[in-house]
Order: sequence, then structure tokens, then C-alpha cells
Amino acid sequence: MGRHHRLVQEVHRLSEQIQRRAAELRGAIEKANYEYHVLDSPAIGDEQYDGMLHELTVLEQRHPEIVTPESPTQRVGAPPSERFKPVRHAAPMLSLANAFGEDELRAFDQRVGKALGRTVVEYVCELKIDGLAVNLTYADGKLTQGATRGDGVTGEDVTANLRTIRSVPLTLRERDKGRIDVRGEVYLPRASFEATNRERIEREEPPFANPRNAAAGAVRQMDPRKTAERDLAIFVYSAAGLEVDSQHLLLMRLRDLGFRVNPMWKLVRGVDEVIARIAELRDKRQSLGYGTDGVVVKVDAIADQERLGYVARSPRWAVAYKFPAEQATTVVEDIKTYVGRTGVLTPVAWLAPVQIGGTTVRRATLHNLDEVRRLDVRVGDRVIVQRAGDVIPEVVRAEPRTADLPEWDMPKSCPECGQPVEHREGEVAYRCANPTCPAKQGQRLGHFVGRGGMDIEGAGWAFLAQVQERGLVSDPADIFDLTMDQLTALDRYAEKSAANLFQRIQDAKERPLERIVYALGIPQVGETTSLDLARWLAAELGPSADLAAVMGRLRRATAEELQDIDGVGPVVAQSITTWIADPEEQAFLDKLVKAGVRPVMPERREIPAASPFAGKTVVFTGTLERRSREEAEALVRELGGKTSGSVSRKTSLVVAGPAAGSKLEKAKELGVDVIDEDAFDAQVRAAGRS
Ligand code: IVH
Repeated sequence: MGRHHRLVQEVHRLSEQIQRRAAELRGAIEKANYEYHVLDSPAIGDEQYDGMLHELTVLEQRHPEIVTPESPTQRVGAPPSERFKPVRHAAPMLSLANAFGEDELRAFDQRVGKALGRTVVEYVCELKIDGLAVNLTYADGKLTQGATRGDGVTGEDVTANLRTIRSVPLTLRERDKGRIDVRGEVYLPRASFEATNRERIEREEPPFANPRNAAAGAVRQMDPRKTAERDLAIFVYSAAGLEVDSQHLLLMRLRDLGFRVNPMWKLVRGVDEVIARIAELRDKRQSLGYGTDGVVVKVDAIADQERLGYVARSPRWAVAYKFPAEQATTVVEDIKTYVGRTGVLTPVAWLAPVQIGGTTVRRATLHNLDEVRRLDVRVGDRVIVQRAGDVIPEVVRAEPRTADLPEWDMPKSCPECGQPVEHREGEVAYRCANPTCPAKQGQRLGHFVGRGGMDIEGAGWAFLAQVQERGLVSDPADIFDLTMDQLTALDRYAEKSAANLFQRIQDAKERPLERIVYALGIPQVGETTSLDLARWLAAELGPSADLAAVMGRLRRATAEELQDIDGVGPVVAQSITTWIADPEEQAFLDKLVKAGVRPVMPERREIPAASPFAGKTVVFTGTLERRSREEAEALVRELGGKTSGSVSRKTSLVVAGPAAGSKLEKAKELGVDVIDEDAFDAQVRAAGRS
């Protein structure tokens, strides 16, 4: 054997050894992950784990050819992306009907029992985790794609981010052939949620309102390294592509495959046992390390689930029982007012700190003066405060007072700028009338650069306060005119961080249209309406319209025209036209155009080819028996139609249930087609939906 040949053989042997060692380490690390994250019983210590991960990292760095995408070192690896790719789900990700209280649960059980011809049904009760629904796709046992729920039909490709979550298996413990789609909830543990919020408050960034928002923020990070910094975890609860006969066997199978399944699930017989289990879970709620907003009750047998089927976008075989809002009693120490983006003053109760649902509550909103009067809350009162799922804490009622306390009133002058507070007859809101009120401007700036808006990372409150104080920025468009020199002159901005921020500001000139619309800060126009408006503008102007064209179209829009857009009612339409008619806002829009802001127009929604509703405007009236009004409207929109709350000449079709009133009259008067719910169902089915 020649020397060269021996050398080659030697190298080959070494490389096999390395490969083997790497495989061994990967196996051991994944096993440790499984024991730690899924079984909750780690068999090895942190040091040993870190040691193995380190050895593997070094091996792979020296021999890059041995790296596999499933290697535990590759959880963070992908570079930041510009935008997430849309992913069409193999099967739509559905939502659940809600049940509040025992009666609604019993009604659900009655319906199920009747449809199945049985008096006692077996159910699985699972915790409803307060997080973000995701779909994980595995091909031949390897994670190939992770997506958010999105609108249920199309989500976003967040594979790189989901890979960073240690309890998301990259490979399955059994290499099942073929494709499996697993669904679950990504969430942020309570402790990390609170730590994140403490950090945000320190950095003078607004805290997340709930764990779900925090999880969504982390999962939708453009840079997976940012996602990895959060301590996200997953619980999975459903799957397509696994052969099992029941939900409880599915949960067991998922766990065997290496997935993390919430351990609180229980198989029960009959509705009484469901109710008993819910009571148990309600008591345990506080002691769990994560947020839950209820219990999902699912018919256990898959064959029964198939018989029951679906209504609109929810299964008939499952229901989400919502826990009642968590409450506590405390004392109002003060009532202060905050000036919002539009100058509206919001009264906020400052409370003696109190624990509600595992978090400390110090403030609660009182919404407006009408609400303060209705509740008759005064400084010094004892009050019941609640946190209902995802809302900011609020005062439910005041306890009868024992001493005389003065009534609270809105301040006559703005607490921020001292200028008079205005109250228009018939309006609930009290506003600071000063257009240059620094609080108002500050809020407006914060809204403009914030998440959901132009999303300029690093432009936090500390930065905004400085540019405002120095008079560099008076309306949000001025941000785009900031020069490198101005940025380096700011406190706490060295050359490098100033350069970074400068670049981010330039990058923010290109944003999806819906974000630009949201960033404008038009009163009443939130994220959903912004998307509705953006879609309408895209349909009107085509995919390559520039900002000047967009703003021009918005300016010309009449309130009537706007009301024809799905999701835009008369109040919102009026608010938009009033806002845009304001010369100051017009100047602001012109500045945005001049600054070179470029919209990315939203994609056209795909409309099923054979849709009976494509291009039609449908109005529902009377009671619907098989689905809620919202569900029916959502169906029409998915099928390419529009919906409206009132009948006009533009209405193409009226769906009338029993007890239909004036809308039906009007439809007849105008000669609009009228059908009943059965006929509507038939059309929906004909379009391939149920
Ligand atoms: S089952 C058709 N199980 O709740 C089945 N959902 O309102 C639909 N969720 O989008 C989902 N924990 O994000 C199911 N144990 C659980 C859940 C759960 C949380 C969320 C999920 C879903 C929403 C439905």
C-alpha cells in the first residue's frame, strides 16, 4: 500500500471518529434537552451539559463539513431576515368557541351528546396556554418549517426563530417517515415575562401588556439571536399525520416523540367531571409558572370528532372555557392623568401594590371622566381591581366608603404643559388643546417609531426625549432629517451607536404600507384598520404605488367611500377624513413623502376560484343559527367578499335569519337579493368550505 493511500485511509479513519463523536454528543445533548424540557427531570448537571455543547461546538468549528442543520449548535445560526415569508398552512389553524360559566359548558355537552346519540361523553381537559399558536412541520423526523398562525390560513415563516427554542425538538425521537404537522403554543414563562418588563421599564420602553404579546414580539423578531435571548418555551397539543384514535393517546404519542406536552391534561367522563377538573385547575392557576386563560375541553375519540365536524372556523368537538378575570382589593392612593398621542387625558388610579394572578399591580386605568363618575371612585377608596386576560388592570368597583372623601375632577389645565384642557359638548374625552404640548408630541413620536409602526429599533424614550428637548424633532417626520452630527451630539450616543441608529432610521424609510398607515397615528385607526386601509389602497392603486400616490388617494377619500371598506365603520371613516383635512397633518404627510418614505404594498389576498361571494357585498340580518355573525362575516371575507352593517345600493346580497327587521325591508325596497341561512350554507359548501 502506497504512503499516500495510507494517509488517505488515516484521514478517513480520523474523520469517521470525529463524525462518530459528534453524533454521540448530539445524541447526548438532545437527550439532555428532552429530559430537562419535556420530562422535567434532568439526569445531568448544567456543567456537564455546557461541557458537551462546548466540545461539539469546537469540533464543528474545526470540521465545518460535519455540521448538520439538526445539530444542537445550529439552534441560532440563520442571519436576520428582512421580512417573514408567508406560509400557507396545510390545514387551516382554527380557533375555538368560548364558553363562559357552567351553563355554557353544559350546553356544549348537550349539543355534543345529542349529535353523537350518547348521554355520557369522554373529554380531555387541557390548560389553555396564554401564548402564540405555531405550526411545526417535520419531514422524515426533521424540523423543516415553523410558522405562526397568522390569519389561520396563512402564517409567517419563523423557522429560524422557533429553532432557538430548546423545547422545540429539531429531530424526533423516532424517525417517522413522512410529514407531521404539530401545533402548539409558544409562551414566555411568568418569571421571564416579568423580568423582560422590568428591563423594558428600565430602558424606558413601554412594557408588554401580557405574556402573549411578549412571546409574539420574541417570535416575530427579525434577528433570531434576539429570539434566543428570551427564555421561550412550547407546549404542543395537536398534530396531523400521526395515526391515533384519541386526543389523550395523541398527547402521549407526542411526548414519546420528544415534544413538550403540558402535564395538566386529564381524561374525564361526562360534563360533571369536566366542571370538577376546571375547578381544580382554577385553584392551581396561581402556582403555575406560565399564564393560562382557561381550559380547552375536547371530545376524546377522533372518530367522534370527525362525526361532529366544524362550524365556520371552529370545531364542534371542542370549546374553550375562560377563567373569570382575577380580582383583588386595594386602596386608591392617587388619581393622575396621562396625556396621550391625540391629547386625550386618561385618568389612572395609583394603587397600593397588590398581587393579581401572580403579578404586582400598581396602577389601573379609569378610562375617562364618565367612568370615574360611574364607579364613583375617589382618592382613599378601597376598590376591586381586575386583570382580565390581556387587558391592562382596571377598577371594577369601589367599596362603600366609610369617611367623606372629595369627588375627583379632571384638571383644568394640562398636567404636562399647563395649557387649558378642552371638553367638547357631547364628547367623553377631555383634551389638551395645545398642538405643541410636549407630552402629546412625545407620545406621537413614540407611536411613530414603535413596534407596529415604523419600528425603529434603538429609538427609545431616552432618545426621543433628547431630540424633542433639543428642538430637533417636532413632528415624527423630522426623525428622517436627523443627521449623523446631530445624533453623535446626543448624550449617550458614541460614534458607533449613532451610526447604527442613523442606519436604522434610513432603513425604516421602507416599511409595509399598513405599518406606515398605523404610524401616522390617526385617531381610531389601530393595526387591524391600518391593514384594511392598506389593502384597500393596494387594490385601488396597484402593487407599485408610491407614498405620494397613497397619500393623495387617502386625501381624496370621502367618508362614504371609506365606510365601504371592510372593517371601517362611520366613526372611523369620520375620524380619518377629519384628521386628513387638518393642514398640519397634511404638512406632516408631505414631509414623509419628501423624506423618501417608501411603502411596500400588501399582497393581494388569494380568493378561491369558485367563490360565490367574490366582489360582492353581503349584509347579515336577523339571528343566525349555525354560526355567529362574526364568523359568517369572516367566511364571506375569506371567500373574497365584503361585508357591511347596513343595506345600501351597493349591497349585493342580504342573508336574513329569523327576526330580521328594517334591513330586510330596505333590501326588498332596493330589490337586493335575499337568501336565508340554509341557502347561505349551501353556497359556502359549494365553495369548498363548511
Ligand atoms: S386546540 C381546533 N388546545 O387557543 C383546535 N388550543 O382559541 C384549536 N390554545 O389558536 C386549538 N392552549 O392558540 C388548543 N391546549 C390547547 C390550547 C390552545 C392554547 C390556543 C391556540 C388556539 C386558541 C384557540
